[in-house]
Amino acid sequence: MSTQSTGGILSHYADFYPPELQKQGYPLISLHEGNTPLIPACHLAEWIEKNTPTRGLRIFLKYEGLNPTGSFKDRGMTYAVSQAKADGAVSIICASTGNTSAAAAAYGTRAGLKTYIVLPSGKVALGKLSQAILYGAEIMEIEGNFDQALTLVRQLGETGKVTVVNSINPYRIQGQKSAAFEVCDALGNGKQAEAPDYLFIPVGNAGNITAYWLGFCEYYAAGKITQKPKMMGYEAEGSAAIVQNRVIDNPETLATAIRIGNPASWSGAVSARDESGGLIGSVTDAEIIHAYQLLAGKEGIFCEPASAASFAGLIQAAQRGEIANNQSAVCVLTGNGLKDPDNAIAHGAAKRHTLAADDGIDRVLDIIEKNKSRPV
Ligand SMILES: Cc1ncc(COP(=O)(O)O)c(C=O)c1O
Repeated sequence: MSTQSTGGILSHYADFYPPELQKQGYPLISLHEGNTPLIPACHLAEWIEKNTPTRGLRIFLKYEGLNPTGSFKDRGMTYAVSQAKADGAVSIICASTGNTSAAAAAYGTRAGLKTYIVLPSGKVALGKLSQAILYGAEIMEIEGNFDQALTLVRQLGETGKVTVVNSINPYRIQGQKSAAFEVCDALGNGKQAEAPDYLFIPVGNAGNITAYWLGFCEYYAAGKITQKPKMMGYEAEGSAAIVQNRVIDNPETLATAIRIGNPASWSGAVSARDESGGLIGSVTDAEIIHAYQLLAGKEGIFCEPASAASFAGLIQAAQRGEIANNQSAVCVLTGNGLKDPDNAIAHGAAKRHTLAADDGIDRVLDIIEKNKSRPV
């Protein structure tokens, strides 16, 4: 993996983005998003081999938590905000389960645009709320859920007074497709780009699965890859509108980022599934937490609970025999674990000890001694 910045996704993949923005002479609003690592997960592959009937699976983690605001949303926001600025907007607005608001506030601030965000009250992880506050957005908390917040934002967009930067803004999906390009470039390892056999991804509003599929299709059409992956999307069970084929009025899950009952890009997710021969499934909160713990405890990778839905989906599919043997799978880890410290503390496996200031080394040596016979 290169540690050099690529200068942001719009300049790095300029061939896949129309040149209008540059022509208008506006600078791109970029925080050098993208270029996130694709990390091989050998310990998780071993775990799958031991605990499921699936054989020879190679697993890679696309760690989107290393984007500038800690989530994949930055890829879409660089484009949506650059375009809004070039089009003469003075303010932007979004509804958000948290990550979109952090990205909108950061890019909006950088562009000199006033940023308004509408959040479901009490249902946004602490890290995300802290970001929006420090970046200086104007925050409205609604006594309702994300879907209700988005309805309000759509209506505000129709007044023409403010530009909506949710994924219903087409530049968001366009920006986010760059992650599929990166996955293929990384798997190609400097040679011909290569798609994985399977792509596992969390599904909330369904913008990201739509964007990845667009990216794979464009890379295929350009002759960069010779096959496309099966798209494996996972909703949280309490918010599984697409799986149940109905709007969920009161979506629930501890993975608050995907607590969405009426996905805006529903049809995009269904097309990705059907055209790729993949599936959209659902995972319980218990499955999400188990995957979250395995990612951190076996690979040292800290993602937020919603992100772990991708690996939870992989475990489920491997257990059900839905993955062929000797294949490659990429799990998209959409957001950084630091976003949601409450869930990490509630579900982390660490044993914690309190020492008196004058305890000396004996108590710690005692703990080390007791741990000798225990597996890590
Ligand atoms: C961390 C995280 N994962 C997954 C998702 C779901 O992405 P999408 O709404 O594009 O399906 C979100 C959306 O907010 C998110 O913040």
